Amino acid sequence: MSIQSEKIEKLVERRAAAALGGGQKRIDAQHGKGKLTARERLALLLDEGSFEEFDAFVQHRCTNFGMEAQHIDGDGVVTGQGTIDGRLVFVFAQDFTVNGGSLSKTMSEKICKVMDLAMKVGAPVIGLNDSGGARIQEGIDALAGYGEIFERNILSSGVVPQISAIMGPCAGGAVYSPALTDFTLMVKGTSYMFLTGPGVVKSVTGEEVSQEDLGGASVHASKSGVAHFAAESEQEAIDTIKKLLSFIPQNNLETAPERPTHDPVNRRDDALNEIIPDNPNKAYDMYKVIGSVVDDGEFLEIHKDFAKNIIVGFAHMGGRSVGVVANQPAVLAGVLDINASRKAARFVRFCDAFNIPLVTLVDVPGFLCGTQQEYGAVITNGAKLLYAYGEATVPKVTVTLRKSYGGAHIVMSCKQLRGDINYAWPSANIAVMGAEGAAGVLYGKDADPEARKAEYEKLFCNPWQAAQKGYIEDVIEPRNTRFRIIRALAVLDGKRQEIPAKKHDNLPL
Ligand code: HXC
Repeated sequence: MSIQSEKIEKLVERRAAAALGGGQKRIDAQHGKGKLTARERLALLLDEGSFEEFDAFVQHRCTNFGMEAQHIDGDGVVTGQGTIDGRLVFVFAQDFTVNGGSLSKTMSEKICKVMDLAMKVGAPVIGLNDSGGARIQEGIDALAGYGEIFERNILSSGVVPQISAIMGPCAGGAVYSPALTDFTLMVKGTSYMFLTGPGVVKSVTGEEVSQEDLGGASVHASKSGVAHFAAESEQEAIDTIKKLLSFIPQNNLETAPERPTHDPVNRRDDALNEIIPDNPNKAYDMYKVIGSVVDDGEFLEIHKDFAKNIIVGFAHMGGRSVGVVANQPAVLAGVLDINASRKAARFVRFCDAFNIPLVTLVDVPGFLCGTQQEYGAVITNGAKLLYAYGEATVPKVTVTLRKSYGGAHIVMSCKQLRGDINYAWPSANIAVMGAEGAAGVLYGKDADPEARKAEYEKLFCNPWQAAQKGYIEDVIEPRNTRFRIIRALAVLDGKRQEIPAKKHDNLPL
């Protein structure tokens, strides 16, 4: 065997050893918990044969606690580039079999390298997280490593899409980096997100809580809103990442890929002419309206289980990717509250940052009032959504289906927040408040309050005041909604709009 062949053989052997991470025993333990390894996850995520690994032979430099005797090539993270549906992405996948995927300084350098490359060429970064947080043996070096990653998360925000999947118990810095990214996916039953695990919680606060109740997928997808998706399996989480990417561009200078469809642009849906109940207090299902107007009825919902009184997600309309925001009359009458405002504001800002037009479907009775909401800062949180719509410069097409009252009317992409094309159905009520409330305030002591209410209804509970004053472009037949939105989006394709030059805004946080 030539010297060169021997060296090549050594490379192959070393690569094979590196691929085993923390060793077969730990891989078996990972499988035993129903989890895949970092490499298995990347194989599912990326187009076959597209992965090119970087830094497979990097080792940590820690000399504390006997770490100098424990070197594993790659140091607990697999990083590199690949393609998904032929589009370039940069990836890192933490390897729980190596020190619990904990973050060393060298691991952070590997992650930062792919983040820097992604920024240079304008491509998404996908992180598959499975990590106990800062590697305790490294002390301040591990914290510095997190600082480096966080800073890149921040500088990349709004420039390249960042997606985080949580695929194991993630603590400390391993959850703060995902919190800085655009979308976080969790896996039910095997992934957790918390500042620190139940053991430390008990010793610090005395509280006894399970991993699931402290930071399981259901908790974060429905209560805290930290997770945008809770998948049934790792495979489902990975499939969702791929689907998500199909709606979004590579970076902030591009537009999302178009998706050809056989669904006719001018398809009418007569059912929409019958969908609004006669009784204004009766609900209907906004999903039916969304399903009816988007291409092929396909809708990728974000935050499905959180703040269900508002619906946000991606769809295509006439082949264009759009962000849909819609009040849901079937949950809390579609009222805006703290969580609904936070959820929608974040989504609107993502769409605006990445050139995805916004389609807003309005049926909102107002903001939820009361002490619980006031103490939780519904004012500040509601202002987030107001701010997000007002600053957004992407095409904004809005359709008011039924109620659009008071402050909530303004917030939901009204004309004065630089809404581009605003339509209303004939069933729309665009007013300061509903007839019941108005009659109570104005005519409480009147001899004939019912007559006054009827008077108010006649005057304000319709779209005509808004139409007469040019606050909406047109009153449209519900069955034509799909066509009207798509035509408006086509007109707005070349939209140019700016915000005043500033260092940055001061969004009410
Ligand atoms: C070094 C770690 C580690 C860590 C886990 N390990 N976390 N090693 N640093 N942070 C090692 C364990 O010693 C073990 O090694 C292996 O990984 C697997 O861990 P287990 O505990 O056996 O696994 P499991 O029971 O599944 O529990 C996982 C866990 C738990 C919930 C993540 O390990 C845990 O609570 N770790 C500490 C979490 C934490 O508090 N991190 C915060 C760090 S501070 P062996 O050799 O036995 O297999 C931080 C600050 C960032 O991140 C700043 C943010 C702003």
